[in-house]
Amino acid sequence: MLLDNLSRCPASGASIPPRMRMAARLHPSRFGNIPDFTARPPCILAAECADLPVNNLPHHRAEGISPLSTAQSPVQSLAGRRVLLIVAGGIAAFKTPDLVRRLRERGASVRVVLTDGGAQFVTPLTLQAVSEDTVYRDLWSLTDESAMGHIQLSRSADVVLVAPATANILARMAHGLADDLATTVLLATDKPVLVAPAMNVRMYEHPATQANLALLAARGVGIIGPDDGAMACGEYGPGRMVEPLSIAEYLAGWFAAQAAPKPLAGRHALVTSGPTHEPIDPVRYIANRSSGKQGHAIAAALAALGARVTLVSGPVRLPDPPGVNVVAVETAAQMLAACRAALPADIFVAAAAVADWRVDGAAGQKLKKREGGGPPALTLTENPDILANLSAAGPDRPELVVGFAAETNDVVAYARAKRLRKGCDWIVANDVSPATGTFGGDRNSVHVIRADGTEEAWENLAKTEVASRLATAISDHFVNGKK
Ligand SMILES: Cc1cc2nc3c(=O)[nH]c(=O)nc-3n(C[C@H](O)[C@H](O)[C@H](O)COP(=O)(O)O)c2cc1C
Repeated sequence: MLLDNLSRCPASGASIPPRMRMAARLHPSRFGNIPDFTARPPCILAAECADLPVNNLPHHRAEGISPLSTAQSPVQSLAGRRVLLIVAGGIAAFKTPDLVRRLRERGASVRVVLTDGGAQFVTPLTLQAVSEDTVYRDLWSLTDESAMGHIQLSRSADVVLVAPATANILARMAHGLADDLATTVLLATDKPVLVAPAMNVRMYEHPATQANLALLAARGVGIIGPDDGAMACGEYGPGRMVEPLSIAEYLAGWFAAQAAPKPLAGRHALVTSGPTHEPIDPVRYIANRSSGKQGHAIAAALAALGARVTLVSGPVRLPDPPGVNVVAVETAAQMLAACRAALPADIFVAAAAVADWRVDGAAGQKLKKREGGGPPALTLTENPDILANLSAAGPDRPELVVGFAAETNDVVAYARAKRLRKGCDWIVANDVSPATGTFGGDRNSVHVIRADGTEEAWENLAKTEVASRLATAISDHFVNGKK
């Protein structure tokens, strides 16, 4: 885990508010002026400067401090899995030794192909040491080619993982280029391919990169992330490589899903995700901080169990989950209409953070600033309640309706009341108070309250893991009749 994901220094216990964490990352020279940071040990300071995982530091290993230790998050196994890791030339390549370690500690064997660009950021020797295997670099190497030809290399794994996936390698993959060992292997492989994009936010948002990702996703390439956050280049936004631990967890979940039977085959699951944007005028809107990561992960997890999934999503900066039919909407009214249009469904999971209110009579033209006239008064009106609406959809009501309750206090009590009020079957309650980092983050702690009133707590898990547990619980409901 990076320091900027921590709310407390694991060694000193000092609290690290998000703004200070961000400020310290962006302006390391000003650390001394930030009181909370003076308390933390130099190793963390150094780690943060270098963007290194804190729990990888010898100091913390020696003290057994590991914020993402297996005690907190059950480790899914990668035992016996063979991963061909292609490391391309992004700044995040320096995290790949940690990625190799995370994969190997779950039982995977890892063989590395390193691009010339990748070798600018991480040495072959380091990757060779952590993988305990040859690092392959050169398409034209007589020795490598005779020991392990590129075709053989491309088939020598159970999965090919490109991390970091640069804009360049994504473009070359999308267009079928094979001008170095990495891209030749990617073209020749008959194995599933997953990519973890990592690049500057503008590069990520460029229509060319987005089109390449869409093309790859349509061909069945799995896309892991990217995350939002501060970047080495000083900009902020989507484009950070998903952290090594989360990639390892994703991969373990992915293997489990591949091997798993498809208990939801023949079922239609309708999932909502992301925020809604409620217009004030044609250029301004009211929104919330939902990233859509949890809803998208649930859609992916249900699809992995064989369900046909329709994902109705508000505006998010996430790639479409593979194998899922995505309907993009902006407002709550559009989301409700899209959900109604997608019925009949067996399962409805309402994970979107739908705005409770919209502006009554949004302006058709941009509101003008009036000199001395003061700001315009906005009158709000209630939005349709999508969860209540689908819970009471009569013969069209999905058999299992799962709501989400995002609360900042008295989470479980409010969620129990909400379940009864909305008429849904289950409710997933999560604490979204700022200190939890749930909104926009990769981890979540939830309480699942079922129709019979029983409650389960799933603490501090990757959102992908929450999704996979929820999908399993849903399939248990359909297969074993579990309430
Ligand atoms: C300092 C530096 C950092 C870079 N970081 C990234 C990055 O994070 N993501 C990316 O897509 N490209 C990045 N690039 C550009 C790639 O290295 C460049 O496109 C290269 O051709 C990628 O080659 P490859 O995809 O074959 O490894 C960076 C370049 C430099 C000089």
